[in-house]
Amino acid sequence: MRRKVTVVGAGNVGATCAQALAARDYADVVLVDIKEGLPQGKALDINQMGAVLGYEPRVTGSNSYDETAGSDVVVITAGLPRSPGMSRDDLVTTNEKIVTDVTEKAIAQSPEAILIVVSNPLDAMCHVAKNVSAWPRERVFGMAGILDTARFSTFIARETQASIKDVTAMVLGGHGDQMVPVVSATTVGGIPLRALVGEGEIDAMVQRTAKGGGEIVELLGTSAWYAPGAAAAQMVDSIMLDEKRILPCTAYLAGEYGIDGLYMGVPVKLGAGGIEDLLELELSEDEQTMLNESADAVREVVGVLSS
Ligand code: LAC
Repeated sequence: MRRKVTVVGAGNVGATCAQALAARDYADVVLVDIKEGLPQGKALDINQMGAVLGYEPRVTGSNSYDETAGSDVVVITAGLPRSPGMSRDDLVTTNEKIVTDVTEKAIAQSPEAILIVVSNPLDAMCHVAKNVSAWPRERVFGMAGILDTARFSTFIARETQASIKDVTAMVLGGHGDQMVPVVSATTVGGIPLRALVGEGEIDAMVQRTAKGGGEIVELLGTSAWYAPGAAAAQMVDSIMLDEKRILPCTAYLAGEYGIDGLYMGVPVKLGAGGIEDLLELELSEDEQTMLNESADAVREVVGVLSS
């Protein structure tokens, strides 16, 4: 029997994540959504794609959680996406209810699972999932940093005309406009970014990264999904295959980086046990100041939660 990954929410992000996981071919995938027909239809389509791309079609679409029982990892993408003019934080009240409900249902079926939260506002929704589950921080965390880092890396690769594969970057902090691209830890082929690109250009890339989600919302009228879905799938890979990759994820800080009792994006080692280590980068004074400001912004949204 193959192991099982559940993706809650069959919208664009959830379906993209399910499709990426199906193509990796190491686990069965259950796609759950309240909307009748939606998860079933998308699952059928992804299964039929397997015939073309050559993976074993094992995606199940469902409106109930019965099929999710015994999942190793549950990815929560349920919730409303952003519309133009809306910040991620505008979604807090609606998505708190949705994330509370789906977390309760998912953990009842899979009490040993690891929860990956993708719903926005991301940092606050991680608090919701942790409060509802009462699971340790090793098993409840969120996807944002890989996406934000992917955006920063894309701009750097274009600016330096280098391969994206040779860009190493790390974006920390909350998944909001105060996120912190760590320029001091960013290299292209091992060469520090500051040796290759002027401060003005770097600043423009940092700004564009921080507003990267909003740029796509303005273009599409809704949130991005290809990079977010793939980023969530990369976290699942690292857990299910025990890869022990060091990836920027939204983790519960208990004093690390001088921040206590808050979910924020930091580098973590992801393996079979979920978060197996939380790494503390040496930040410049400016970067630490930016991280503290980002923490204040996250705290403000968390303060809006009803519990
Ligand atoms: C973004 C949304 C998914 O950053 O938060 O595109």
